[in-house]
Formats: sequence, C-alpha cells, structure tokens
Amino acid sequence: MTRGKFITLEGMDGAGKSTHLEWLPAFIEARGVKVVQTREPGGTPVGEKLREMLLDKSQGLHADTEALLMFAARREHIAKVIEPALRRGTWVLCDRFTDATFAYQSAGSGLAWERIEALERWVHGELQPDLTLYFDVSSEVGKARTSAVREPDRFEREGRSFFDRVREGYLRRAREHPLRMCVINGAQRLEVVRQHVESIVLSHCF
Ligand code: TYD
Repeated sequence: MTRGKFITLEGMDGAGKSTHLEWLPAFIEARGVKVVQTREPGGTPVGEKLREMLLDKSQGLHADTEALLMFAARREHIAKVIEPALRRGTWVLCDRFTDATFAYQSAGSGLAWERIEALERWVHGELQPDLTLYFDVSSEVGKARTSAVREPDRFEREGRSFFDRVREGYLRRAREHPLRMCVINGAQRLEVVRQHVESIVLSHCF
C-alpha cells in the first residue's frame, strides 16, 4: 500500500486558507485518491475540547501552557487520525500544523524557537508534511479580511504588531524548510492563487 500524502495549509487569519480548503479536497480526489480533511488545534474529540479552551476569549493562558496544549492536541491527532490515514493510503489535508505553533506561540507570543523545536522533535520527529501551502499576506490584508466577516477569536483579537511577528515566523520556517513549504502570495486575486495552488499540488504530489 502506498502511503498517503500529508498536506498542511498555513497562513495568518484572513490569508485565504479556508477559502481554498473549500475546493482543494475535491481537486485531489478527482485524481483518484481518498482525502481526509482535518484541522488543528482539533481533529479528535480531545483535540476539539482543547481547541475550545485555546480559542476562548475570556482566558489568558501562559505562553508555555498554550504551546503544550497545542502539542498535546497534536499528539492525539497524529496517533488517532493522521498516521492511520496515511498508512491506509489516504491523503490528509490539515488546516494548520506545527508551523502555526512556531509562528503564533514563538514568533507572535515570544516563546523560544528552540522550545518549539524540542516539542516538535518529541511529538513528531519522524513525521513532517510532504507539502505545506503557506498563504502569505501582510497584517493589514489579514486584519481587513477577518474583521469584515466575523467576530474575532482570541488570537484574532491581537494587534497588528503581533501579526507582523506571526508573518515573520512563518517566513522563517519557509526559509528553514524550502522544499516542503511553498510561499503563495495570498493578496492576489482568488483565481490567480487557486491556479498557483493547483500547479504546486500537481507538481509536488502526483
Ligand atoms: P483558524 O485556523 O484560523 O480557524 P478558524 O478559521 O476556524 O478561525 O483558528 C485557529 C487559531 O489557532 C488561529 O488564530 C491560530 C491559532 N493557532 C496557534 O496559535 N497555534 C497553533 O499551533 C495552531 C495550530 C493554531
């Protein structure tokens, strides 16, 4: 049995991930593979409970607690959903993964980069996405798009300088993992972004 491919989508709030997740699973399935779509934090019953705590507006969590809960949810997700699917040959399309912890908890909230690297090695040293689509937008574009459509969650309530740091964190990860992570200019017209995503997925995964 050929192992499935593991694809993650990343980007700051308002970058366009959710929009592209609406068509991408069908685009891949049309080429004859099974896809499961999932998300982080979340993806399992325990993970979804942790997500509620993590995104709760009323709670101020210590940055360490936040990172540890993200990785606790992730450990469960890998064991119960991601690894079993990949082993059966199913592809996994995941809305955010460890790059988000580097971007938000380290670059954004100030936790040492090496701390997250240590947790990454512990929790999924062997497993990395085959491809990460990183939708890159400036904090202005991200903010303008999210405030137009919904009530912000705890992270979305942060200010512009937080999101400038989040973006720098993502770009640093992209520099450190140039083969896995593709930077897509998310400020372009949807159709242009979509064509870029299609060509990357076709050339990296098929
Ligand atoms: P998001 O993926 O934007 O979901 P939705 O579109 O339903 O709002 O929300 C998840 C939030 O969690 C987002 O603001 C980023 C944050 N997050 C982290 O801070 N660290 C992480 O490791 C992950 C996976 C997410």
